[in-house]
Amino acid sequence: MNTLLTFSISLLFSSSVWSGYLEYDQDVLIPDDWTHVGPVDPTEELELTFALKQQNIDQVEEILRRVSDPDSYAYGQYLTLQEVSSLVSPSELTQKVVHHWLRSHGITNCLTVHTQDFLQCTMTAEVAETLLPGSKFKRYTRNGQSVVRSAAPYSVHDDVHQHLDFVGGLHRLPPKGQDLSKASNRKQKQSEAGVHLGVTPAVLRARYNLTAADVGTAPDNSQAVAQFLEQYYSPADLSEFMGIYGRSFKHLSKVDRVVGTQGAGKAGIEASLDIEYIMSTGANISTWFFTNPGRHESQEPFLQWMVLLSNMSDLPWVHTVSYGDDEDSLSTAYMTRINTEFKKAGIRGISLLFASGDSGAGCRHLGKEQNSFRPSFPASSPYVTTVGGTSFKNPFKLTYEVTDYISGGGFSNVFKMPDYQASAVEGYLKSVAAALPPKTYFNTSGRAYPDLAALSDNYWVVINRVPVPWVSGTSASTPVVGGMLSLINDQRLLKGLPALGFLNPRLYQLKGQALFDVTEGCHLSCLDEQVQGKGFCAAPSWDPVTGWGTPNYPELLAALLTD
Ligand SMILES: *[C@@H]1O[C@H](CO)[C@@H](O)[C@H](O)[C@H]1NC(C)=O
Ligand SMILES: *[C@@H]1O[C@H](CO)[C@@H](O)[C@H](O)[C@H]1NC(C)=O
Ligand SMILES: *[C@@H]1O[C@H](CO)[C@@H](O)[C@H](O)[C@H]1NC(C)=O
Ligand SMILES: *[C@@H]1O[C@H](CO)[C@@H](O)[C@H](O)[C@H]1NC(C)=O
Repeated sequence: MNTLLTFSISLLFSSSVWSGYLEYDQDVLIPDDWTHVGPVDPTEELELTFALKQQNIDQVEEILRRVSDPDSYAYGQYLTLQEVSSLVSPSELTQKVVHHWLRSHGITNCLTVHTQDFLQCTMTAEVAETLLPGSKFKRYTRNGQSVVRSAAPYSVHDDVHQHLDFVGGLHRLPPKGQDLSKASNRKQKQSEAGVHLGVTPAVLRARYNLTAADVGTAPDNSQAVAQFLEQYYSPADLSEFMGIYGRSFKHLSKVDRVVGTQGAGKAGIEASLDIEYIMSTGANISTWFFTNPGRHESQEPFLQWMVLLSNMSDLPWVHTVSYGDDEDSLSTAYMTRINTEFKKAGIRGISLLFASGDSGAGCRHLGKEQNSFRPSFPASSPYVTTVGGTSFKNPFKLTYEVTDYISGGGFSNVFKMPDYQASAVEGYLKSVAAALPPKTYFNTSGRAYPDLAALSDNYWVVINRVPVPWVSGTSASTPVVGGMLSLINDQRLLKGLPALGFLNPRLYQLKGQALFDVTEGCHLSCLDEQVQGKGFCAAPSWDPVTGWGTPNYPELLAALLTD
């Protein structure tokens, strides 16, 4: 009797626990750089995001293929947010079940979005822990930033399990900023050797063949940078930057719209870099700045930004984002849903550009003397355009470009290779076969990135009213490419053509035409005996270090200006 009872209870327990996890493969460990500072008061308010199961996901994928393939009859026939909504909105049953579940826990303070597939709800920590069995909220800090997270996995009631993709606000921590100033120290030695040039808007515009006439003129065009590091850009820095570096081309010196709250932190190098450079290549184009949209510290800023996109019917056509996490730290459920959000943006004609990262191929320690490369997400998403980095062959001259050894690149272990890039990647793997890193380090069946690149090394940025040199990273190259795509959109809009939208299918069809091929140099990876710090190497045509290469603007414009 006794034994039997124990048996049935443990069976019950394990079945309710296991079936209840939505993100069984999410890394819930709090990284070492965060300090646990104590429990959370049970009455403290948290805000959690519920990702409701959507409908017609397969159709969204198919529509994205049609509207972004230039050979398709439906190329450029984008959907409005309203149309996206009627496609993906959760079923009535899903909405009913989830709302009922929340209400039965006394949670009534929820905001929804236009597409009705996200709910943002505030509740006390105590209620959150009962709603999501297993979760245990604690407070953590890093460099003055404070967050509330659960280091234990959460589950949900069996009845709602099939109606949710995941719950946000429990595990994923705000990204660590690229240490841009430190990254810049790497080449300081060379400055002693001779004249310091450094990348400025004039240098970029000269290298990529932008003339003074290549500025935006279409009234309905706009572009945006999004960044989530609790930094803000300073309007005074931007205006001073343009005063110093913008003399040779017509530009704007003010951001048109800030979405979210600029605030708590300091003017950051990252934020200044992004905004100063997207407005230098995408000159005279209305520019938005998306910053931390959260009102609560429990939020995941990147997720908040995605939620916001589903709630705004008028958005800039181009968004550049410098944000990434190790792919292996994120749950498949989360990444799959974020991919759906990327597709939702793509079918609206929005171009999303992500920095490929600043750790080359990356490195993951799997065990004793056993390593592999470490892809980064969203860089590894098949539904965004990923931008790598280059430097000048001679850092003091306007020469051709070579690999910047920090340029993020490689192969996803989660997302399979999309059709649009299959032959390009196959070509690379064949042509460099003998020189490839050991097979155990990467996964050739995965989505390969980056897609293209731009200079990422040795930029001048104005920060706190002072021009600062040696700023580097793919968070520099990404807004530079973004601004140029905006210029191309501008010309398309003037001709009455639709915006470029999700660029990759069209970009890969060009097979490198209109881009400067980068063929020299390798990026970094694991410092072990097998690979000795070397990841992949650039090669003629596409490669997983610099993609197809860097834009030759007039040719790219010509190639992308046809219907
Ligand atoms: C979405 O926008 C509507 C109004 O436009 C607003 O009422 C709602 O609170 C917004 N949702 C979120 C999650 O902010
Ligand atoms: C663009 O730049 C390259 C190298 O900087 C140069 O060789 C080329 O002639 C320029 N013009 C065009 C239209 O491509
Ligand atoms: C700048 O853009 C505006 C439209 O936003 C346009 O009217 C103006 O002509 C542009 N300036 C130049 C120099 O092209
Ligand atoms: C390699 O990638 C594929 C998807 O592209 C995935 O199914 C597979 O599990 C990956 N292998 C490893 C060892 O991660």
